[in-house]
Amino acid sequence: MNYLIEKPIHVATDHVLLRISTDFTDSHPGQFVNIRPSAGSDPLVRRPFSIFNQDESVIELVIKVIGRGTRLISAFEPGPLDMLGPLGKGFTVTTGKHALLVGGGVGNAPLYYLARRLKDAGNRVTFIYGARSEEYIYLEDRFADTTDRMIITTDDGSRGQKGFVTTFAEEILHGKETVDQVYTCGPTPMMALLSQVCSNLQVPVEASLENYFGCGIGLCSGCTVETTAGQKRACVEGPVMDGSSIMWQSVSD
Ligand SMILES: Cc1cc2nc3c(=O)[nH]c(=O)nc-3n(C[C@H](O)[C@H](O)[C@H](O)COP(=O)(O)OP(=O)(O)OC[C@H]3O[C@@H](n4cnc5c(N)ncnc54)[C@H](O)[C@@H]3O)c2cc1C
Ligand code: FES
Repeated sequence: MNYLIEKPIHVATDHVLLRISTDFTDSHPGQFVNIRPSAGSDPLVRRPFSIFNQDESVIELVIKVIGRGTRLISAFEPGPLDMLGPLGKGFTVTTGKHALLVGGGVGNAPLYYLARRLKDAGNRVTFIYGARSEEYIYLEDRFADTTDRMIITTDDGSRGQKGFVTTFAEEILHGKETVDQVYTCGPTPMMALLSQVCSNLQVPVEASLENYFGCGIGLCSGCTVETTAGQKRACVEGPVMDGSSIMWQSVSD
């Protein structure tokens, strides 16, 4: 039985943290859960969220409130939760490498869990954390604790470096230090651009898609994206995919 341990905690403007007791201990960074926002029919469809963290059987999610489903979830009371998971295919965890993690907005969430696992596996982790402005930066101390180097960027310069994460990622990728693997999650145009840069430099890149999902379990084809290997359902053959194989114009943003 899945159980919301406490009321969702406000962690930044429009962002809440959920702590959930689950009956699993074996999720993988990049996997997601599918939550039913309402016991009734509005909204009917479950909403997918990446796992932000797992310790033993407790998972955490960071949810950005953008519509009816997330508004309902952000007001949940502690108690039983209608949630499926862990679902989908997560990130590959390398060993003993230099990994560059590039996140945008709520897309930073799955990269926190990944950073923890990468550190445990002896990797060096550089993390570029992008947000629109300072008020949307959440749980910064926890991110900083899992990384060797963290660069914060904001679109408006209210915190950290002013500009887009892709600019700073390109600087690092073109710099002296070798990057062995790039991981990204965030807005589709950001991941598309970064994947292109990585492909040009022949650096492997894994991207976690956050396009529209219907069923979340491979039945409706609502999440299909085009790749160089044909059509893939992001909910079962992703959400994490080889960024250089994705035909990015086929991904909704
Ligand atoms: C694999 C996966 C992992 C995700 N992880 C997270 C996460 O960790 N935290 C988080 O906050 N969100 C995450 N999302 C996005 C989240 O699922 C949506 O924000 C949520 O379903 C919106 O529900 P809603 O009812 O509040 O919004 P709706 O009322 O359905 O929509 C409100 C507005 O947001 C737009 N919208 C809705 N869903 C999406 C989407 N997937 N992409 C872009 N625009 C959308 C709609 O077009 C509309 O304009 C993830 C999505 C996927 C597919
Ligand atoms: S969301 Fe239904 S097949 Fe992926």
